[in-house]
Amino acid sequence: MLFNKSQEENIKNLETPFYYYDLTLLNSTLDQAKAAADRYGFHVHYALKANFNDRLLQAIQAKGFGADCVSGNEVQKAIDSGFPASQITFAGVGKSDKEIRMALKHGIFTFNVESIQEMEVINELAEELGVVASVSLRINPNVDAQTHHYITTGLDENKFGVPTSELEKAATVIRKCAHVELMGLHFHVGSQITDLNVFKSLCVKVNEWKNWFEERGTTINVLNVGGGLGVDYQQPDAHPIPDFGAYFAIFDKFLERSAHQEVHFELGRALIAQCGSLISKVLYTKSGIKKHFLVLDAGMTELMRPALYQAYHQIERVAMGNTGEATLNYDVVGPICESSDCFGKEVPLPVSKRGDLIAIRTAGAYGEVMASRYNLRDEIRYVYDSEL
Ligand code: LLP
Repeated sequence: MLFNKSQEENIKNLETPFYYYDLTLLNSTLDQAKAAADRYGFHVHYALKANFNDRLLQAIQAKGFGADCVSGNEVQKAIDSGFPASQITFAGVGKSDKEIRMALKHGIFTFNVESIQEMEVINELAEELGVVASVSLRINPNVDAQTHHYITTGLDENKFGVPTSELEKAATVIRKCAHVELMGLHFHVGSQITDLNVFKSLCVKVNEWKNWFEERGTTINVLNVGGGLGVDYQQPDAHPIPDFGAYFAIFDKFLERSAHQEVHFELGRALIAQCGSLISKVLYTKSGIKKHFLVLDAGMTELMRPALYQAYHQIERVAMGNTGEATLNYDVVGPICESSDCFGKEVPLPVSKRGDLIAIRTAGAYGEVMASRYNLRDEIRYVYDSEL
C-alpha cells in the first residue's frame, strides 16, 4: 500500500498529475546497495539518466555514490549537486567537442569512450587544454541481455562501444595518443535485466578482454561492468528493494581481478525505480462497445514507458477507504491525442468514478526524465513523502 490514511487525506487536495517520491524508501534502498557493494570493495556510480530530480540526487550524493553521466549537462548537474569530479564518469556514443572540453576542465574521473575516432578527438582536445584525459574503452561484448530490444545495448548490432574486431586498432591508437591515459575497460549490456545469468556471461567476457589487454602489456585499473539490474514491476510492494546482495555476489564470484583493480558499477533503475509513483486523477469513465475506459489526467507525456516499450507498470487505485468492491477490467488511458497513450489494457480495478486517484507504480526511473510537453502539457509536479 502506497499511502497511509492521513497521507491519503492530504493528497486528495493536491493538483494532479504529480510524481510522488518516497525518500524514505530511497534512503533504505541506497543503504542496502551501498552495504552490499562495500562488502566487496565495489564502487557504484548512479546513472543520472534514470532521474536527475534534485532531491533524489542530493540523497544519492549524500550516501557517497559516484555519478555516471551521458551529456555535458548531466556532468554539470552532478557537479552542482555535490558529486566530486573524481567520482564522475562521462559515457555516450555522441559526445560533442563542447561537452568533452567542459568535462576535461572539470577533471572528471574518466570518459567511457565509444569509438576510436572519439578517442582521437579527446586526445586532441586534451592536448589543446594541456591536460591528459583519463579514458576507459567501452567494449561491445556481444552479450544478450534478454531484455526488451530497445534497451539491449551489448549486441553486435547495437551502436554502443567499440566492436571487438577493432580492439587491436584501438590499443594501437591509445598507445600513440600522448594526451589520453587508459584507466580501464567499460561494458554495459542492457537495462532491466532480471536474469542474473546474464551478468555471469558478462563476467566471462570481461575476464576475456581484460586478459587480452594485459597480455599486450596494458595495465587495466578499472573494470566498469555498467548497470542494468532490473526491478520488480509486477509486484512493487513485495520487492520494493532489489536483491543487491545476490547481484554483487555474482561479480565477486565470476569476475577475475587483481588486487590493484577496482570494480565499478553504473546503476540507475535499481536505485530509484521503486521510490517513484505517478499519481493521477480519473477525469472520465466511459464504456464503449467492447471496452471500459478510464481516462486519466496523466498521459504518455508524464510517463512514456508504456507507450514506447509496451512496458508494464502496476496500476492501482489509491484506496480512499474503500475495500471489497466490485471490479471491472479497464483500459487505462491518458488525454494525449495518440492511440498509444495507454498505461495498461484490461486492468482489473475497483469500479471507478470521476475524481478517483490512481497510482502508477515503479515510475521513479526513466519516468520524469523522459517526460515531454507534447500537447503543451503542464510542467511536471512533484510531491515527497516528507511533505504528506
Ligand atoms: N550505463 C550505461 C552505459 C547505460 O546506457 C545505462 C542505461 C546505464 C548505465 C543504467 O542502466 P540501469 O541500471 O538504469 O538499467 N529508458 C529505458 C532505459 C534506457 C537505459 C539506457 N541506459 C527504460 O525506460 O526502460
